[in-house]
Amino acid sequence: MLFFKKSPKESTYDQFDIIPEHIAIMMDGNGRWATRKGMPRTAGHYAGMQSMRETIRNCYTLKIKYLTLYAFSTENWARPIEEVNYLVSLPQLFFQDEILSELISHNVQVKFIGNLSRFPESIQDIMQKAKDLTSMNTGMVLNFAMNYGGKAEIIQAIKRYAEENQNIEELDEDLFEKYLYTKDCPSPDLIIRTSGEHRLSNFLLWQSAKSELWFTKTLWPDFDLYALKEAISVYQSRKLEAISN
Ligand code: FPP
Repeated sequence: MLFFKKSPKESTYDQFDIIPEHIAIMMDGNGRWATRKGMPRTAGHYAGMQSMRETIRNCYTLKIKYLTLYAFSTENWARPIEEVNYLVSLPQLFFQDEILSELISHNVQVKFIGNLSRFPESIQDIMQKAKDLTSMNTGMVLNFAMNYGGKAEIIQAIKRYAEENQNIEELDEDLFEKYLYTKDCPSPDLIIRTSGEHRLSNFLLWQSAKSELWFTKTLWPDFDLYALKEAISVYQSRKLEAISN
């Protein structure tokens, strides 16, 4: 059984033996990154968006099948209005023709999870366009969690189930999962949180039941290929340990 022959930095994806099928990331630390550099928090979010773009590239290159990014939580609305407005405007900045062409040419399928109805219509249109233009792709599924909260997701699933079904006795775990935003997606194998925090913060509460968790002190804008490979390497060694026990 083989994982990293060399250091994570030197290794290439074909050295991976056990690849997490689904990686989910809590991209934390943008604000601190900016503050430490004497810049406004929005500059941290801009840098975080660049890091996100790099990570998307790294994940499709590493042949990750599903990548879920916690881009905007239900709690984020409580931030100062200028910061909320900036975060809400990021899809417009991100989903330019250039990135859409790149995602299309790399067969990436863009999806969104969360309650999108709270975003301005212009932003909803941009998200819909990204989804539509990549819907025929069959490669990596890229889920953006937007106005996402794990508790809200579970509540909406219960409500929809109750609306559509008479018999509560038939409800089991498999059936319940069909009512979650992530219904077409396997649960994450590996959840990464940057910036040294050790909480799930309402992210994928149901889906994280069996996930491996990896926390790193690296702030999100500094999260690079080396950090990603380090997380995957730890995931691989945990899996190997489980197999050998
Ligand atoms: C948490 O850092 C990060 C966020 C609230 C936003 C994350 C968003 C992106 C990386 C880009 C999203 C882009 C698109 C197109 C959806 P924080 O601000 O809480 O950092 P702090 O804990 O240091 O204050």
